[in-house]
Amino acid sequence: MAIENTKNISILNANRQDVADEESVRQLEYIEKAKAQVSFLEKELGRKLTACVTTFGCQMNARDSEKLLATLKLVGYEETESEDADFVIYNTCTVRDNADQRVLGRLGQCSNFKKNNPHMKIAICGCMMQEDSSVEKIKKSYRFVDLIFGTHNIYKFAELLYRSLNSDKMIIDIWKETDKIVEDLPVLRKYSFKSGVNIMFGCNNFCTYCIVPYVRGRERSRSPKDIIRECEKLAADGVKEIMLLGQNVNSYGNDFKDGNPDKISFAKLIDEVTKVEGIERVRFMTPHPKDFSDELIDVIANNKKIARHIHLPLQSGNTEILRRMNRKYTKEDYLNLVDKIRTKLPDVAITTDIIVGFPGEKKEDVDDTIDVVKKAAFDNAFTFIYSKRSGTPAATFEDQVPEDVVKENFDRLLKVVQDTAKEQSFKYNGQVQEVLVENVNDHDESLMTGRMSNNTLVHFPGDRELIGKMVKVKITECHGFYFFGEIAE
Ligand code: SAH
Ligand code: SF4
Ligand code: F3S
Repeated sequence: MAIENTKNISILNANRQDVADEESVRQLEYIEKAKAQVSFLEKELGRKLTACVTTFGCQMNARDSEKLLATLKLVGYEETESEDADFVIYNTCTVRDNADQRVLGRLGQCSNFKKNNPHMKIAICGCMMQEDSSVEKIKKSYRFVDLIFGTHNIYKFAELLYRSLNSDKMIIDIWKETDKIVEDLPVLRKYSFKSGVNIMFGCNNFCTYCIVPYVRGRERSRSPKDIIRECEKLAADGVKEIMLLGQNVNSYGNDFKDGNPDKISFAKLIDEVTKVEGIERVRFMTPHPKDFSDELIDVIANNKKIARHIHLPLQSGNTEILRRMNRKYTKEDYLNLVDKIRTKLPDVAITTDIIVGFPGEKKEDVDDTIDVVKKAAFDNAFTFIYSKRSGTPAATFEDQVPEDVVKENFDRLLKVVQDTAKEQSFKYNGQVQEVLVENVNDHDESLMTGRMSNNTLVHFPGDRELIGKMVKVKITECHGFYFFGEIAE
């Protein structure tokens, strides 16, 4: 694993000019203080201390966890996958109720480890902690937790960690909102050759089922300069593939005032990122159909470095349900957009997210969704059962759909989604694809696993030396969500 910004740490300590990053300097000072503490504990215990970071939720959370892990490593902890560790942190998601339940189950188990290790610290952060009810639950039923913080002050982790190491009380620090973006915090990438890059935080869309705007706050875009600077650093550090991250990437920059030179479109931004020397492939996640501009389609068409994959969340294929979801497009708008994309970008894979069981959804509404799945010919779709999130408008809607009806509709939809995806996958048979090699195959050591531009995995005979390299692979066998192939040159 590669720690980014380690060079920066020394620059910052040598009196960096950039005052905007005062906060990151402060946090680096806390890293030094906590380091002394950890080294003291190491001597006392006669062993190295270990830390485990567990992530739930989306790519945004995964990127946040890379920041948590970097701080823990700089402080002196050794990374471990096991929750039987000296510092355990759960970075939570609350988008659906099952995400909440998974976290609480894991947290419960973790308390057993603490009984045998009095030095153990347990922390919990992320989206679930932005909800009062969840924090209350932890305070009441999970008294053994040492540190709770939210999404807005994650940059303060070093400081909170230091405070927690010096206290035997439960520390809780949750902010309701923030307008702050702290640059230049250390990050420890999971992969040396690819990385996520946040381009914006928060969401302004308030889809009526969704908790994200409440737990991640309003949209805040990073300046293009900061984004490009981060991409340049990543490229210099060996990164070849970048994923631009945001809840609604194509509203990037809308929060900048007119006349601000930073105000550029998402299409322009992604084009700029592809120009960074060393970057070979750029992805993005997630665009909103209502903001998908012709400019963006043209930029993708003219720029082969932009991955041939668009994740375009549909949510429902029924116009009335879409209206009640506050998605701001109709069934026809969505299909027209897909048509335009398929015409101008024939080699692009389109994937989607669909919710089944939104309040008031009838069988015929799901038929509309099925119709869109067939017409859009999705390469893949993630199907979710609607989960009531308290605090969102939809939670108060009448006519919540009975479970058995949801299940029946879900199964019906899933069958079509799977058949469509399988049919789509055959188009890759015999093609030669650029593949970024990610790892040795989990089941067969003679095979390598890599990612095609369309975001699907391909397994092929090869050497581990290829990890992190872009190679040409001929697709020989389709298995729906993954492929087998052989090196083409
Ligand atoms: N910003 C992205 C992704 C948000 S969360 C977007 O606009 O699409 C990822 C997915 O979770 C969503 O696309 C949606 O399909 C699903 N989701 C969000 N809230 C949900 C809920 N309450 N119940 C079920 N699925 C939900
Ligand atoms: Fe949630 Fe809608 Fe924002 Fe996506 S765009 S994060 S679904 S509110
Ligand atoms: Fe979950 Fe938060 Fe992402 S609620 S989906 S981790 S923004």
